Amino acid sequence: MDLSIIGSGYVGLVTGACFADVGHNVICVDNDPSKVESLQAGKVPIYEPGLEEVINRNVAAKRLRFTGSIKDGVDNSQVVFIAVPTPQAADGHVDLSFIEKVAREIAGVLSDYRVIVDKSTVPVKTGEKVAESIKRYNKHGAEFDVVSNPEFLREGCAVADLMKPDRIVIGAQSERAIDLMKKIYEPFMSPILVTDINSAELIKHAANSFLALKISYINAVSAICEASGADVEKVADGIGMDRRIGRNFLNAGIGYGGSCFPKDIAAFIKISEQLGVPFTLLKEVQRINASQKDRFLTAVRDALWVLREKKIAVWGLTFKPDTDDIRSSVAIDLVADMLKEGAHVTVYDPKGMEKAREVKEIAGATFAASALEAVEGAEALIVATEWSEFAAVDLETVKESMATPMVFDGRNLFDPQTMATLGFQYHSIGRHRVAPR
Ligand SMILES: NC(=O)c1ccc[n+]([C@@H]2O[C@H](COP(=O)([O-])OP(=O)(O)OC[C@H]3O[C@@H](n4cnc5c(N)ncnc54)[C@H](O)[C@@H]3O)[C@@H](O)[C@H]2O)c1
Repeated sequence: MDLSIIGSGYVGLVTGACFADVGHNVICVDNDPSKVESLQAGKVPIYEPGLEEVINRNVAAKRLRFTGSIKDGVDNSQVVFIAVPTPQAADGHVDLSFIEKVAREIAGVLSDYRVIVDKSTVPVKTGEKVAESIKRYNKHGAEFDVVSNPEFLREGCAVADLMKPDRIVIGAQSERAIDLMKKIYEPFMSPILVTDINSAELIKHAANSFLALKISYINAVSAICEASGADVEKVADGIGMDRRIGRNFLNAGIGYGGSCFPKDIAAFIKISEQLGVPFTLLKEVQRINASQKDRFLTAVRDALWVLREKKIAVWGLTFKPDTDDIRSSVAIDLVADMLKEGAHVTVYDPKGMEKAREVKEIAGATFAASALEAVEGAEALIVATEWSEFAAVDLETVKESMATPMVFDGRNLFDPQTMATLGFQYHSIGRHRVAPR
């Protein structure tokens, strides 16, 4: 089928590449000329495992191309996906101006029946607004259907998630649109759930909020573990073995970040308030998440006494491993907080350095060329993202390089017993402290 995707970011680009990989003809549209130019020149502007190969393969097969023109995309496809940002406005609402602008632009060039699919994460009832907007600006009176098709990919394994999704949610009203959507997704051989538009939109916010809730739940348990001497990993294993609960998303740490969870939970709270049914449980999820980072920083302060002039190494800047995405990363917030307190912070991340250099809040940090370079002369090491590269570093060398061997593991990457045997003063989240040998 002929498809276009408007917005070629983490979602749009990966979706476009995977649609092309199963045989569709795909046009990826973006209004950032530098992004389009670099894609046309064969340079992929984001890091996502396996993505570059999929893009190269499908560009070579002439199933995938890039353009800055919405008209080009709409004219040459049966189904038009919208994958533009839906950032958080200052008051927690979703800023839907990107979606509204694209809806208007699509309407302006619509000349024949098209299915307009919202893939961006939006509050319930946005589909109705998109349809109204397209109707209003639809100069030629062309027929169209609006569909909600939320995306559940995880950055860091987005290609794999898109090729083999747990489920595909299609929120639509018309049989014509549903048939076309099913045809697009047929090659993926995954379960398809057809719903009304409002339910599809709500599924995405409810799913992300539930995952965030699971994280905050285990983080709250980790605080109780620390206070009582229990081990949060064992507790998570014990409750996660219950198939009704599951072990995923029960990893205690310094809290969730990224471009989705914080804004989606804030948006779900806002829309629930607007609808007159405030979802107050989610406010507690937010509070626990914020307190987890604060508790961690308190532990660092308690151990180092004062942070001013302390040389602190930070491993990890991205919000999770296997991505270059640093949006709303807790690691970045930690670095910014420590810089504010006068610490000398040296950072290293396998993929996030380029983007992190542009963040003004951490401009005072030193950017190291490797994990080992970052720890040279450090009085403390903070593990803020659980990259497997860090797990493979020679810890003996780390210890020798550091001025004082103190490690604060915000992602429980290392084993407390091993760290103690190596002679580290080791702090992790919700686990037993073992005195260094
Ligand atoms: N990143 C994720 O893991 C993820 C997962 C599921 C859902 N989502 C949702 O998908 C949406 C997109 O997220 P993202 O992470 O891909 O964002 P992104 O910022 O990486 O990409 C958005 C792209 O849209 C482009 N754009 C903006 N306005 C445009 C316009 N008028 N015309 C054409 N292009 C335009 C931008 O230049 C950018 O390249 C958001 O609603 C997000 O919540 C994201």
